[in-house]
Amino acid sequence: MTQPALPTTPADGGSWVHVADLKDVGRRKRKQVEVGGCPIALFLVDDEVFAVDDTCIHQEKSLAKGTLLNGQVICPGHQWRFDPRTGEPQDQDGRLATYAVQVTEEGAVLVDPNPATPRVPTTAESAITSGGAS
Ligand code: FES
Repeated sequence: MTQPALPTTPADGGSWVHVADLKDVGRRKRKQVEVGGCPIALFLVDDEVFAVDDTCIHQEKSLAKGTLLNGQVICPGHQWRFDPRTGEPQDQDGRLATYAVQVTEEGAVLVDPNPATPRVPTTAESAITSGGAS
């Protein structure tokens, strides 16, 4: 019996987290998963899986509940469009965090829990600011 070949560990020495199977992402081309308690949205675009924050930078809607159209993620809240490759919104500032993804030959989707690019809040007036004092 052979063990599935796991990819190399992320560059920062962390470890990949098995968050889903490719067939589960492929059904609806999107899936919400959690890594370390953090909601992450997976999107399947051109046979490649991308991982970004699931929580919109605008008013915290779930992007996994949005629409994937022409390779862009459309937020269900106010229809901001995001590029799942970069996390960048179209015609807005700010950015979703992105996460490195690997898919094994066996179809396991692995995510590096450490963001490849950080989340940048938007300055849009109607944005909810999170993480402030309570
Ligand atoms: S909550 Fe995403 S665009 Fe407003």
